[in-house]
Amino acid sequence: MHIVEMQGITKQFGDVIANDHVDFYLRKGEVHALLGENGAGKTTLMRILYGLYQQDSGDVLVNDTKVSIHSPKDAIANGIGMVTQHFALVPPLTVAENVVLGFTDSFVLDRADIERKVSEASRKFGMDIDPKALIRHLSVGQRQRVEILKALYRDARVLILDEPTAVLVPQEVDLLFDTLNRLRKDGISVIFISHKLDEVTTITDRVTVLRDGKAVGTVDTANITKNDLAKMMVGRESFGVTRQQDQKENGKCILELKNLSAQDDKGLSALKDINLQVCEGEILGIAGVSGNGQKELAETLCGVRNVSEGQILIEGQDLVGKEPSQFTAVGIGRIPEDRHEGMVGELSVAQNMAMEHLKEYSSGGRMDRKAILATAEKLIEQYQIKARPNDKTRTLSGGNMQKVLLARVLSRQPKTIIVPQPTRGLDVGATDYVREQLLEQRKRGAAVLLISEDLDEILALSDRIAVIYEGEIVGVLPAQEATAERLGLLMSGAVKEN
Ligand SMILES: Nc1ncnc2c1ncn2[C@@H]1O[C@H](COP(=O)(O)OP(=O)(O)O)[C@@H](O)[C@H]1O
Ligand SMILES: [Mg+2]
Repeated sequence: MHIVEMQGITKQFGDVIANDHVDFYLRKGEVHALLGENGAGKTTLMRILYGLYQQDSGDVLVNDTKVSIHSPKDAIANGIGMVTQHFALVPPLTVAENVVLGFTDSFVLDRADIERKVSEASRKFGMDIDPKALIRHLSVGQRQRVEILKALYRDARVLILDEPTAVLVPQEVDLLFDTLNRLRKDGISVIFISHKLDEVTTITDRVTVLRDGKAVGTVDTANITKNDLAKMMVGRESFGVTRQQDQKENGKCILELKNLSAQDDKGLSALKDINLQVCEGEILGIAGVSGNGQKELAETLCGVRNVSEGQILIEGQDLVGKEPSQFTAVGIGRIPEDRHEGMVGELSVAQNMAMEHLKEYSSGGRMDRKAILATAEKLIEQYQIKARPNDKTRTLSGGNMQKVLLARVLSRQPKTIIVPQPTRGLDVGATDYVREQLLEQRKRGAAVLLISEDLDEILALSDRIAVIYEGEIVGVLPAQEATAERLGLLMSGAVKEN
């Protein structure tokens, strides 16, 4: 018997078919992965089950009875809870207060009773949460556990977790998996959304794979290899691009940050006294949990955020206070974090490729359109971009947009390359391609600063890894010494190694 059956679910957004006749069957007491690449339709399917979206067609059954779920309230009444990617907790309130928030009708809270229940559930499922603690004092991992407690307090028998590990350091992932095992023992069913094969094979009983909005199939985890899952997920094997373990002479230092400090948009200290060097032919990875200063670091190094103290030296020349165009002029190539911000969607591929270098194509106040088109044709071929020079970039897929940006920046052969989150949101094929390009740049002798929240990416590509925590570099390790455990401890702020 299934606790939940989703039959022939279809959901369309404009031209996009996010779910295309998807079947999904959930058993009682299993941890069931919903696996698929970005954009495969995982979140959409679960938002339908949780009442945040309505399906265009298809049926949902809970305990063999057809149900209509029009809101999270309906979902909860059917024993379905969801922890989304963005938590909805109120920071100045306690854990216990958050757990009952919006749930109890009573005006008089029996505080002691709620705290006891929360504390019992927390212990039972291995979560170690103090019901009296204020949310604002809790780490991201702890907040996630509060969200799970909140669902359990509402008697959820089906718990949906949307990419729960994306915000966790490795040690917290172990804790979460321990909790999932205990939930399973208690007969609760967990839907675990992920695109990470390691996690899925470690923790789940069964896997349903989505690709391009369609369910490719459901398999028992015990009977399948990671390679087979990868094939189901992307329609081909992932080659897993990684840096070769070559021993290189240390190149000359190109980029040097000296005592660099900067503020965030709110005027709070975001980068604190950062000292780093990136040398020729080296990829320096910056690892860290999202929101620890990565964005500000990337912006500072491209001249779009003010420096409050310190120096940014390129071959000894200080760039602090200079215009972004001067950063480009001395050989800093920047691949922007937000692809849509990096180009103008209404302009053509060719125009976007020429952007930042328009001077080279103009003489006597006229643009040399032919030269712009010719360059674009060359780059489209070289970077294997699926587009024509005159296509508007907004019509391109994420992977092809990223290739346009890469072509624009890398064709200039910059000495230093700043790349924040280069593969976020890309499919496996495009991810492999981007990583290969970065390794090519390393081979060419560029100094590459790779800022990524994907620890696997950092480990696969970096020669050295620096960990950023609350705007500080808390450790720098050579790749050979950087294990996920050691990096995790640094990323969580538990230890410092400098
Ligand atoms: N609210 C929405 N409006 C328009 N398009 C959407 C919306 N939500 C999802 N999509 C599109 O539906 C597809 C599936 O998205 P999603 O379910 O978020 O995938 P996943 O969670 O597997 O990454 C994507 O192409 C996405 O852009
Ligand atoms: Mg999603």
